[in-house]
Amino acid sequence: MSQKIEQIRGEFEAALEAVLDIAGLEALRLEYLSKKGKVASLMSELRNIPNEEKKSFGQKVNELKALVEQRLNARREELEAAAEQALIDATESYDDSLPAIEQVGSYHPITLVQRELEQIFLSMGFTVEDYLEVVDDFHCFEALNIPKHHPARDMQDTYYLDNGQLLKTHTSAAQNAIMKKYGAPLRAVFPGRCFRNESTDASHENTFFQMEGIMIDKDISISNLIYFMKTMLSEVFHKDVTVRLRPGFFPFVEPGFELDIKCLICGGDGCPSCKNSGWLELCPCGMIHPNVLRYGGIDPEEYSGFAFGLGLTRLAMMKYGIKDIRVFNKGSLKANSQFNAE
Ligand code: PHE
Repeated sequence: MSQKIEQIRGEFEAALEAVLDIAGLEALRLEYLSKKGKVASLMSELRNIPNEEKKSFGQKVNELKALVEQRLNARREELEAAAEQALIDATESYDDSLPAIEQVGSYHPITLVQRELEQIFLSMGFTVEDYLEVVDDFHCFEALNIPKHHPARDMQDTYYLDNGQLLKTHTSAAQNAIMKKYGAPLRAVFPGRCFRNESTDASHENTFFQMEGIMIDKDISISNLIYFMKTMLSEVFHKDVTVRLRPGFFPFVEPGFELDIKCLICGGDGCPSCKNSGWLELCPCGMIHPNVLRYGGIDPEEYSGFAFGLGLTRLAMMKYGIKDIRVFNKGSLKANSQFNAE
């Protein structure tokens, strides 16, 4: 009888070798270990065995059963590991240095407003220029018709370096270099970070952003200035805006203006946002002073142009309803990651 046990054991080992997947393994398990399986049928042979051999036969069958179980389990583990590996191999490989989806960053609100404006001006034929943050006195002031000791400098105190250079107080500081680079005719905007020696509060910062724009050509007039400003602002706020000009003084423009827009919140009736005046001061601008054109190598007899200095930071505050200017430089992810491009 023990020969039969050995035979079944041999058959099992061979069959196990041939099994290639979990389904085959399960079939084999049923074949050997189910109630009517081969191991159970050996047990039923017990009654045909002489009494003195019963014990050792029973033991051997039990040993076989344990062996079959153990070998099946081991093979199952092998097959499962191989299946897992095959799945990994078949899956597209990924770059584990990429950030997790949940951590994808967002743009700073100033960047969003800046990019939107750049697109608008590009579509109107302007180029977008980059410029320095550390400039010299000539570019920041003298080339803009602000000689030394001119009182207009008082409003633009800034941070000076030991070598006499300074952190630019306005994007107008790039006007001279851009005029010299391209000559006339010229349409360009130049966004940039500006600095002033200010005590900070909810509406004042020592570091803020502007976007300057200049357009120089033959016969450029105030009507062109109004048209471009109105078109651009209507795009930014996604509605028709009404603008008005008030006189404003800047040595590098003549005449100079403060451009206001009709309050977008109350429509001009007066509300706390516009301090009940119905208008919001938005953008200083004017016709470029002949001296400034001359400094830039452009003949004011032949060409004229307008310039404007949009407060990007201010615009972002208005567009997103940000009440405290200090939010922008705080580096708070909570505050700055709430904004999305439109
Ligand atoms: N540069 C001026 C400022 O920052 C703004 C301005 C720009 C005014 C262009 C007129 C024309 O105060």
